[in-house]
Amino acid sequence: MTTIKIITGSTRPQRFGPQVANWIKTVADEEAGAAGAEGDGVQFELVDLAEVNLPLLDEATPPMMNQPQNEHTKKWAALVGEADGFVFVTPEYNHSVGAALKNAIDYLIYQWAYKPVAFASYGSLAGGSRAVEHLRGIAGELKLYDLREQVMIPNYWNQLDDSGRFVPAPEQEETARTMLRDLIFWTAVMKAPREKLAARR
Ligand SMILES: Cc1cc2nc3c(=O)[nH]c(=O)nc-3n(C[C@H](O)[C@H](O)[C@H](O)COP(=O)(O)O)c2cc1C
Repeated sequence: MTTIKIITGSTRPQRFGPQVANWIKTVADEEAGAAGAEGDGVQFELVDLAEVNLPLLDEATPPMMNQPQNEHTKKWAALVGEADGFVFVTPEYNHSVGAALKNAIDYLIYQWAYKPVAFASYGSLAGGSRAVEHLRGIAGELKLYDLREQVMIPNYWNQLDDSGRFVPAPEQEETARTMLRDLIFWTAVMKAPREKLAARR
């Protein structure tokens, strides 16, 4: 089974992030079903950093030494390690990635390596794009393979219905489908080479 984890990168009460993550999950499940043999055996799972509840990085040794001491680090390493690909759902805080997602990323190195990642971002006018630009640099350092296609939701508050539910625009839906099709493809393609690459370490 190929597993792609959709990580919600914000943690504050009443955040918007889960709405984006849930929407991406719905589209992802449809695309996995529609991908035929290519999507065969692909499952998408939601990961909410508010539930993972990591403290600020508190390991005595840096992640390149791969000697986690704390239970929360071991649990997080297992959760990320069993994934074959990711969608990072990110807000933009002060023109960058939020602290919760950056902190969760910083906990690990090897568990991210050689896995594809796609991005869904939201915010005001720039739609979270500046956070994603920074995440792409971080991805390079971690050997995460970032995909070009990305979902951006600018001024998302204009896309809420009367009950506060996010209503995606048709172009956003189309972009999400293209992005997720690419992610399903590359996640499947990278699985075997990833094991070889990791073995060379
Ligand atoms: C600390 C902080 C900084 C923010 N900075 C930006 C920003 O630089 N650009 C932007 O588009 N929106 C910014 N916003 C507005 C967020 O896009 C908006 O609050 C969004 O709902 C945050 O995501 P969340 O609800 O999942 O936490 C900021 C919000 C917070 C809380």
